[in-house]
Amino acid sequence: MTRPPFLVTALETGIHDRGRFDCGVPALNRYLREQVSQDIRRRVAACFVALDDSQRIAAYYTLASASVPLTGLPDDLRRKLPRYGAIPAIRMGRLAVDREFKGRGLGGALLVNAMRRAVAAEIPGAVMVVEAKDPQAAAFYRHHGFIDLRDAPLTLFLPLSSLR
Ligand SMILES: CC(C)(COP(=O)(O)OP(=O)(O)OC[C@H]1O[C@@H](n2cnc3c(N)ncnc32)[C@H](O)[C@@H]1OP(=O)(O)O)[C@@H](O)C(=O)NCCC(=O)NCCS
Repeated sequence: MTRPPFLVTALETGIHDRGRFDCGVPALNRYLREQVSQDIRRRVAACFVALDDSQRIAAYYTLASASVPLTGLPDDLRRKLPRYGAIPAIRMGRLAVDREFKGRGLGGALLVNAMRRAVAAEIPGAVMVVEAKDPQAAAFYRHHGFIDLRDAPLTLFLPLSSLR
């Protein structure tokens, strides 16, 4: 991972300074500043932050449980799954790196961090699913092995069973 070494930990809303975070996407900045506490309180999402050695938030991501339609998955994967209408998934709802820390491997490292968490979770999800905010973000996820979900533009997934 990029220097300085980062600590990835659950966001503590009363402790970590969210006001300074700027990833260049106003909606993602606003979410961290204004909405995430409520989502955590309501158990709608969990939020993890990468802190640099001065405790500054360099990046964050959110996770939540979700489901994806079985018909969205490619045939070879579908054949290995039970014939439920939807299968359990872990959703990475948001991923954002502060402008000052971009392009140094932190986004990719957090993706791996999130996948590790998803694989280790006691309540399973068969895939990790992401909703890319635009084609550029979708390209980032494809670069890391994510596959387009059928009939769901900008929604991508990665099977988690193969990561074990
Ligand atoms: C997208 C984002 C998370 C990437 O974070 P980052 O720390 O700059 O990316 P990294 O330095 O970890 O890049 C890791 C790899 O992904 C590649 N990559 C980065 N952005 C890419 C893109 N848009 N398309 C394709 N590949 C991309 C890098 O070239 C690098 O490749 P390598 O490992 O083979 O060298 C960051 O730019 C960001 O916060 N953007 C604004 C918010 C956003 O778009 N979030 C996406 C989810 S909605």
